[in-house]
Amino acid sequence: MKPLRKIIFPAAGMGTRFLPATKASPKEMLTIVDKPLIQYGVEEALAAGMEQIIMITGRGKRAIEDHFDISTELEANLKSAGKSKLYKEVSRVSRMAEVVYVRQKQALGLGHAVLCARHWVGDEAFGVALADELIVGPKPAMRQLSDVYHKTGNSVIGLIQVPADQVSKYGIVAYQAGEDGLLRLTDMVEKPAVEDAPSHMAIVGRYIFTPRLMELLHDVKPGAGGEFQLTDAIAALAKEEPIHGVVLEGQRFDAGNPEGFLMANTLLGLQHEQYGKALRQLLKDHL
Ligand code: UTP
Repeated sequence: MKPLRKIIFPAAGMGTRFLPATKASPKEMLTIVDKPLIQYGVEEALAAGMEQIIMITGRGKRAIEDHFDISTELEANLKSAGKSKLYKEVSRVSRMAEVVYVRQKQALGLGHAVLCARHWVGDEAFGVALADELIVGPKPAMRQLSDVYHKTGNSVIGLIQVPADQVSKYGIVAYQAGEDGLLRLTDMVEKPAVEDAPSHMAIVGRYIFTPRLMELLHDVKPGAGGEFQLTDAIAALAKEEPIHGVVLEGQRFDAGNPEGFLMANTLLGLQHEQYGKALRQLLKDHL
């Protein structure tokens, strides 16, 4: 079995669904309660035992690099002002992971963004996580996937069951249930009409791939909107190797649009030990 130490965070998209908030700052830096989305993603990857973060960035994404960098001046200021709790947190974030940054010069699609990391991935298995999809639950989503990878050595994809009226918004999979209790994916279709969809099981932004995926990504031709779709390479991989699906425990939010973002903030705000009480009161007063 190939080691699983690396994870790619594609973060070079335009974030058009969240304009104007994302005009000058990256979508991945939008804050859920007190941390940016990308930090939730990195913490989830570390909790799954991954060690090297490969961040795919583009124009206007410098804030992500600064977030995980050491700010000597800020740390010195916090320390000398006796703000030791903040100092500890800021220095923890700067040192939490080994992060490398790869530029995607043009936003040519998710498949292209992942392919940009090929030299860093080499011949190892790797994770891919979309930080604007936040999955809140007792067990980190990436850990749910890596447990299956470590059992099987096969690629694994995170899934959720979606209602019929949502099917056309997702990549939808066809699958068979194996005797081992694992789902085996046989095909996938990007955003099908509900009547053509093979199931209501949707792909969410958590994946683990064998290195073969990178080779298949090379051969992907641009699809809808001139974008290189990751789904096309996954469908090709499914013809060659087993791919497992894991129906994720937890609640998934698409925080890359204002509605999902507000819901994620509300849930995590209500759960927060410091801010939960005031938020509950506010909601009570206004409902
Ligand atoms: P999305 O379609 O959700 O992101 O892509 P987007 O393009 O930034 O957002 P909208 O649709 O315009 O609002 C899924 C993920 O893939 C990354 C995005 O950053 C996001 O994490 N991505 C997408 C890239 O890194 N490069 C691309 O060319 C496209």
